[in-house]
Amino acid sequence: MIKKKTIYVCKSCDYQTSQWLGKCPSCGAWNSFEEETYDDDKAAAADKKSVRRTLLARDFGESEPMLLSENVPDYLRSSTGMGEFDRVLGGGLVSGSVVLLSGEPGIGKSTLLLQICHSLSQTKKVLYVSGEESAAQIAMRAKRLGVRSESLWVLTETDASKVLEKADKLSPDVIVVDSIQTMYHSESATIPGSITQIRESSAMFINRAKTDGTAVLLVGHVNKEGGIAGPKILEHMVDTVLYFEGERRQNFRLIRAMKNRFGSTNEIGVFEMTDKGLREVENPSEMLLSDRPKNVPGNCAVCVMEGTRPLIAEIQALTSPTVFPSPRRMSTGIDYGRVSLIIAVIEKRLGLAFQAHDVYVNVIGGIKIDETASDAAMAMALISSVRELAVPDDLIAFGEIGLSGEVRTVSRVEQRVAEAARLGFTRIAIPRRCAERLDKIPDGVKIFPINTVFDLLPLMAK
Ligand code: TYD
Ligand code: MG
Repeated sequence: MIKKKTIYVCKSCDYQTSQWLGKCPSCGAWNSFEEETYDDDKAAAADKKSVRRTLLARDFGESEPMLLSENVPDYLRSSTGMGEFDRVLGGGLVSGSVVLLSGEPGIGKSTLLLQICHSLSQTKKVLYVSGEESAAQIAMRAKRLGVRSESLWVLTETDASKVLEKADKLSPDVIVVDSIQTMYHSESATIPGSITQIRESSAMFINRAKTDGTAVLLVGHVNKEGGIAGPKILEHMVDTVLYFEGERRQNFRLIRAMKNRFGSTNEIGVFEMTDKGLREVENPSEMLLSDRPKNVPGNCAVCVMEGTRPLIAEIQALTSPTVFPSPRRMSTGIDYGRVSLIIAVIEKRLGLAFQAHDVYVNVIGGIKIDETASDAAMAMALISSVRELAVPDDLIAFGEIGLSGEVRTVSRVEQRVAEAARLGFTRIAIPRRCAERLDKIPDGVKIFPINTVFDLLPLMAK
């Protein structure tokens, strides 16, 4: 008689036990165990385990040692028709690679992929599989985006084996799966949408990519904690993990690589959502600065590095007398802890009082800054707001601020200065050590070396 055996698998790290547990002993996640049943006990369980292991280990087949200096084929890359997307991929879509594109609902994943499918289909056969929208809905969107192609195929299907069956007949070069959470594996006993289903259907697509060189793009939903809704193991299985971010209400969108086996993870792609879909933004700084208010206290421009590219953004601070027993502090686009730290440094070192003020700090354009080089600009914005003195419009500041109020060096100063000068900033405040090392100062630019937060005060005056 075949015995049924039940095991419990952690959704987030794949840890297995024979008993249900509230907290995973391996990754610490709560309520993450899901039941899996096997017909044959040990053999099947061992089998499933080994399937998982080979998925992680990647089967390269029989191979011989070869000299690294010769015969190493380069990746076969194709341009997606969007330079910004190619950039995050490391220079184009690699054949046989699996890319996971994740982001919140409504951010624009389906829109972007349909646009990319369109340009890829100029030279390749592309299959767009949707488990979320009907063919009519996709056709309507395609019309709106101006997508028309003789080699772009749409399939509405949620059974992964059927998708692959249809793909066998069509033999596309690229398969897009929108989204992986809607796919299921008919032979698996668990319910559709469960972790096991996601894992097993992903495995089928990954296998496909690795055996015949099809490039696979998977769409993944993000849960409310910001992680990909599905097992962590999915991130290990794919070659590239991209996050689509931005404020849904604003038009600015960023794509960031969190993992990339075929390129760097520093690069970002910048897009704008328009009524004709996503548009690449090659000069993001210009866009970010386009609606800058002039001569208003509380604003200061900053230059942050996003990968190899400098990006000029604006930090705004608003301080207003509080009506609460303990003042409010709020920040968007920048780490709250960093804001508190800079406020504390300014209070202590410059004697400016924020205790009676609510403080709001905001980064314009819905972008997120996580570089300490933005400290000096944040301090300027805060001082400017509390003292009701505008920072000159042509001034930009960067530098990391330490707890003693000292301004520390930042990387890639030359590049930041050049970008600031290109956008018309003529007064550039930078850490003294950086100023000393600066070889070339662009024409018409005056450099203001800063040692400590004290040096920020005279910059406010015209
Ligand atoms: P969508 O690609 O469906 O998001 P996701 O697949 O990530 O859930 O994008 C949906 C949003 O984008 C929707 O709110 C409408 C907007 N949108 C535009 O602004 N312009 C367009 O051309 C399209 C197609 C969508
Ligand atoms: Mg979608």
